[in-house]
Amino acid sequence: MDVALTPAALPAARLAGTAALVVDVLRASTTMVTALAHGCRAMLPVAEVEEARRRARELPGALLAGERGGDPPAGFDLGNSPLEFTSERVGGRTIVFTTSNGTRALLAARPATAVAVAGFVNLTAAAGWALGQRRDLVVICAGELGARSVEDETCAGLLMDRVLSVEPGAVASPAAAEAAGAARAYAKDLARLARDAPHARLLAAHGRAPDVTACLTLDTFTVVPIYRADIDKVVSQYR
Ligand code: MLT
Repeated sequence: MDVALTPAALPAARLAGTAALVVDVLRASTTMVTALAHGCRAMLPVAEVEEARRRARELPGALLAGERGGDPPAGFDLGNSPLEFTSERVGGRTIVFTTSNGTRALLAARPATAVAVAGFVNLTAAAGWALGQRRDLVVICAGELGARSVEDETCAGLLMDRVLSVEPGAVASPAAAEAAGAARAYAKDLARLARDAPHARLLAAHGRAPDVTACLTLDTFTVVPIYRADIDKVVSQYR
């Protein structure tokens, strides 16, 4: 088991043959889990805003969602607040999705054999998915514009702990062991991350404290978003 603290810390070659879990707690992975749990048919992760607009034009009926600088770009149907992705809004719909860090981390994970998305909101289901893969596991933290982020590292550490509790013989890399150790400080009080994580403070300062609360809640959902490279879409799997 290994943890990449940012996508750049991960040479693509290291992903070959692995199962990868992509984590962007605030907010892209939480939003993807929420959308799929609320009946969204599929999400297309896209790196750039213009490309997202183009892909959405090619898919009649698709919704365009995501953020730059925390807000939806002009003409987007939805932003990146998990609270917007209700059943009424996204049920049965395909969503073209682009965010500053999360969707890029997901696209960077493509060389892995199996790719899924994790946050606190689906922690137990995501750990179950990872265990079921019977492969080396790499957790990829999206981080923030190339820098590490404490909320993603905490989520990665808790995932490591969950896997180790079922497979005590699993071997953790030094980065994975460090993440698991650091996560224990938050394990019983995820809400502390609202104070300690700079991105959480930034979101709250922009009136998005309810998003932070939703993102820092454990096991709201049992869905695991799976990235299927053959169709270039994220679809749901229930555990
Ligand atoms: C991202 O992908 O960078 C984020 O999810 C940023 C955010 O909207 O909070």
